[in-house]
Amino acid sequence: MITSSPKLPSKSRRGQPLTGKVRVPGDKSISHRALILAGMAIGTSKISGLLEGADVLATMRVMQALGVHIEKHDSGDWHVTGVGPMGLSSPAEALDFGNAGTGVRLVMGLVAGAAIGAQFTGDTSLSARPMERILSPLRAMGAQAQATNGCLPVKIEPAVLTAATITPNIASAQVKSAILLAALGVAGTTTVREKIATRGHSESMMRLMGADIRVEEKDGYREVSLHNETGPTCLKALDLEVPGDPSSAAFPLVAALTVPGSDLVLENIMLNRQRDGLIRVLRAMGGDIAIANERQASGETIGDLRIRHSALTAANVAANTASDMIDEFPALAVAAAAAEGTSHMAGLAELRVKESDRLAAIEAGLKANGVAVEAGEDWLRVTGGAIPGGAEVQTHHDHRIAMAFLCLGLIADKPVTVDDRTMIATSFPEFFELMADLGAQID
Ligand code: S3P
Repeated sequence: MITSSPKLPSKSRRGQPLTGKVRVPGDKSISHRALILAGMAIGTSKISGLLEGADVLATMRVMQALGVHIEKHDSGDWHVTGVGPMGLSSPAEALDFGNAGTGVRLVMGLVAGAAIGAQFTGDTSLSARPMERILSPLRAMGAQAQATNGCLPVKIEPAVLTAATITPNIASAQVKSAILLAALGVAGTTTVREKIATRGHSESMMRLMGADIRVEEKDGYREVSLHNETGPTCLKALDLEVPGDPSSAAFPLVAALTVPGSDLVLENIMLNRQRDGLIRVLRAMGGDIAIANERQASGETIGDLRIRHSALTAANVAANTASDMIDEFPALAVAAAAAEGTSHMAGLAELRVKESDRLAAIEAGLKANGVAVEAGEDWLRVTGGAIPGGAEVQTHHDHRIAMAFLCLGLIADKPVTVDDRTMIATSFPEFFELMADLGAQID
């Protein structure tokens, strides 16, 4: 069991403008997928820029427990030697994912499709998150899987799966990816039908590795199919450059827009259409964000962002665009607190089941710091203006809540404290160093 470290509070305060040119760490979604898919390939994959955050390291240890050889070279690249189709072995011990929701959900699909058995556990926060959304489509394919009151621990027993067409009832890239990973070992065609397109990193990477992935728009759905007419998919090893994580970039991005006089560059950021919702919304709010040096690498579009402090006006996020920025609402709520007028954000039901109940955490944290805020079951309303600050925010072991409220402290009248900073290492271990390099006062 990965135990959580003792809490360590952190405080941020108003100071100088943020300036400089920095790189945020590699994308978390791509890093998980790179380890998982390279682990299934024939041959050795080389991965550069891998996020070495606690979540990804948990997935790495799990892939090693399933028989995959993974090592870091002096160059900083990771080499992953895959086991090939159907080459995974049942682990001797339960697979402990710590706080890694993406890791646990994707590997459940992988294990089910590989016809092996495993038990899945995680930390207290992960153990409270819903897992039936993954297990129910896997069962429809023939998996033998039991959860504990819908949550971890989960047990999957060896079973041979069959191809299926599945229409998940929530917009979730984790659900889609679990199904596609399960389908790697399944004969025939497996299709996931999405009403709202979610991040397509799994299907893009599978295609790069030689899988027969087809994507079609049909009857108002985006249909992603994996075709296996001649037995399990044989993935080829790949050389992958992991681009900068837009979900981590969100924090210095919002800080630069809101701290007066700021002017900074975030290099090498992934600009995927299902991940750049925050940039689109901030631009519509009047945010000065210029994209330069746009290029393609490892199947993704990447660019450098130049961000200058801007007078923001209120945001309006429609429900059908929420999934393009699903991890960015804590950061957007901070921008909304600094904007003129009342921002409305809809379609946020999924925020209730992230690393914490993020809607409740945002509402409580803003309210405690004197910001006018209202939240419903799946919406948030924030009225911008002066931000008194001065309060301690409960992070509920949620990295994005901690980083967002440390950004709020940079623009509040009085310093803002978060009760714990340790879990920021799950996705952004360099956060404090990078923010200090830009001139932010956080300790
Ligand atoms: C992720 C998908 C999203 C996101 C999570 C990472 C992924 O979750 O919130 O941080 O890598 O597939 P959902 O698929 O549950 O929306």
